[in-house]
Amino acid sequence: MAAQAGKLVVVGAGAVGSSTAYAALIRGSARDVVLYDIDQAKVEAEVLDLAHGTQFTGASSITGGTDIALTAGADVVVITAGAKQKPGQTRLELAGTNARILEALMPQLLEHSPEAVFVLVTNPCDVLTVVAQRIAGLPAGRVFASGTVLDTSRLRWLLGERVGVSRSSVHAYIVGEHGDTEFPLWACATIGGVPLRDWAADGGGKAFSPEALEELAQEVRTAAYRVIEGKGATNYAIGLSAARIVEAVLGREDAVLPVSTVLSGQYGIDGVALSLPSVVGAGGVRRVLEVPMDDGELARLARSAEALRASARSLGY
Ligand code: 2OP
Repeated sequence: MAAQAGKLVVVGAGAVGSSTAYAALIRGSARDVVLYDIDQAKVEAEVLDLAHGTQFTGASSITGGTDIALTAGADVVVITAGAKQKPGQTRLELAGTNARILEALMPQLLEHSPEAVFVLVTNPCDVLTVVAQRIAGLPAGRVFASGTVLDTSRLRWLLGERVGVSRSSVHAYIVGEHGDTEFPLWACATIGGVPLRDWAADGGGKAFSPEALEELAQEVRTAAYRVIEGKGATNYAIGLSAARIVEAVLGREDAVLPVSTVLSGQYGIDGVALSLPSVVGAGGVRRVLEVPMDDGELARLARSAEALRASARSLGY
């Protein structure tokens, strides 16, 4: 199995970081995968466990440890380190703790990998993207968050299941905060090229009433809470989402993914990171798309931006 050329460093060997490395190995997202953490026993054990399976993965290698020098020369750095949500806790409640961790980490990572693209997965990922981008002083496209790539996958899975169509034929995005104010872009959602709002039910009539659509949006918005309630964390789907983003960068794909970038005037929003469909390829986010939104969607985007701005301000950013 071929692997994408390039070095991926995953920072944090917890459930999310380890699952990101696992997904990257299986998908061949990067030739060299390095797992870095300050907990020696944990990172060494995760690297061993992953390495033991590489007979069955592809050409990618897995190494790692506690020495920051191991991260040197990364093409992509995925940051997953930090405190995770406890049952019932919101992502924004983690902001203070995780911002302080990032403030310590980011300069070291940048020193060792000055050419890397940085992908924030640690929550609240939108707020931490602002923190990381300010610290690094890099162009916005080189420091972005996984954002609503995962929420969008959750939505496409749900829609595909409801209408009995492959997820790959569903085009719909969740945008805004990766969190409680996120929302779907129903106005431009399609299934097999048919506008979602016009999709016919089996017995005739529209498949989705406005109420049914709102229920779907709510199901996606609360999905992580349900998983965390049951197993203490979400890890597999976010690991796959992060690996997918890495592939888009290393593969120079120019794929449209709803990642979270610090905006500079799009929809009148400045200095706040939130997710919008974006072109992801060589060097990171190459363009943030200004897709058509109806008035309701514009209002929700503004609400998301306000919540994120308030959180960043409370941290001094
Ligand atoms: C998720 O959405 C918790 O942000 C994580 O799965």
